[in-house]
Amino acid sequence: ALRGSFARKAQKPNQSSHHGLQLQASYKVAILGAAGGIGQPLALLVKMSPLVSALNLYDIANVKGVAADLSHCNTPSQVLDFTGASELGNCLKGVNVVVIPAGVPRKPGMTRDDLFNINANIVKTLVEAVADNCPDAFIHVISNPVNSTVPIAAEVLKQKGVYDPKKLFGVTTLDVVRANTFVAEKKNLKLINVDVPVIGGHAGITILPLLSKTKPSVSFSDEEVEQLTIRIQNAGTEVVEAKAGAGSATLSMAYAAARFVESSLRALDGDGDVYECSFVQSDLTDLPFFASRVKLGRKGIEAMIPSDLQGLSEYEEKALEALKPELKASIEKGIAFAQKQP
Ligand code: NAI
Repeated sequence: ALRGSFARKAQKPNQSSHHGLQLQASYKVAILGAAGGIGQPLALLVKMSPLVSALNLYDIANVKGVAADLSHCNTPSQVLDFTGASELGNCLKGVNVVVIPAGVPRKPGMTRDDLFNINANIVKTLVEAVADNCPDAFIHVISNPVNSTVPIAAEVLKQKGVYDPKKLFGVTTLDVVRANTFVAEKKNLKLINVDVPVIGGHAGITILPLLSKTKPSVSFSDEEVEQLTIRIQNAGTEVVEAKAGAGSATLSMAYAAARFVESSLRALDGDGDVYECSFVQSDLTDLPFFASRVKLGRKGIEAMIPSDLQGLSEYEEKALEALKPELKASIEKGIAFAQKQP
């Protein structure tokens, strides 16, 4: 992710400007909640992408300064700011990828579900605007509880008659990023090579890293599996507690979200080899939404990978069955919320 963009150097003498990367920039990205803890570093990372021509930043407050600041970076995208509901429509016109990190984060002692009452309404309102202004966009939902906010978004899009399940994504990339990091540390592997698929959902025990499917192939003792699984499931809480009331993961989340944006843009750009884990409408299990690896293409999800759920270890099989009731309840809570709204 973000390959190349960090490598840009000062020009050598006699080298003319306007080369290379600028020619590739052609996609429009909007971030809703762009002045927040995730929104700001995410906007910075997306500003570094050579594939982006326009970066539209929306929030209910404080976004003007963020946009003014970012706009001075000499990367191709043009940064515009949009404040408040009256400017939301304009923010979304013609956008290819919409990222939604708007909403309140956890404080110590809170579960992601405790955020439901506030964030459900925020996501609903924002997705309605997406449906009205850029119904063809890829939608990346970061706002928690993802296990419920993605079903809410799906219902809203259905009500508007524009739901395309191939383009609605709950962002679970951070779970993969964490799993990769923790496994590499534990096993002394080169980080760049490690890839652990994470399935299920994005809260507590619904987060299920498939350690048996780690690439490169590694073996873990039962104790290591248990420790790593629990650490990956609780990694968000680790950060919430360390921040002691100042919020949840923002920097690692921004990094993960930027990777998912970059993957989506590469897919839109015709790269035929883009895979990410994401919480999406799914028929891999009996649950209507499920996180798993998906192949991304120009039209969104191009293929699911059913083989990822075959040949699981006994531990993973059990954990998969154990997570289903909680995930099902969170999905149903989201659907019920969206259906009872006028
Ligand atoms: P934050 O409070 O720092 O920022 C949230 C931003 O959303 C603020 O700038 C606020 O003004 C804005 N906002 C509030 N209502 C809005 C509305 N109606 N329209 C547009 N913007 C609105 O919170 P932070 O740390 O950035 O977290 C945002 C969300 O991301 C939380 O729900 C958090 O739980 C979630 N999260 C998700 C993760 C994941 O892996 N999917 C990981 C970490 C956090």
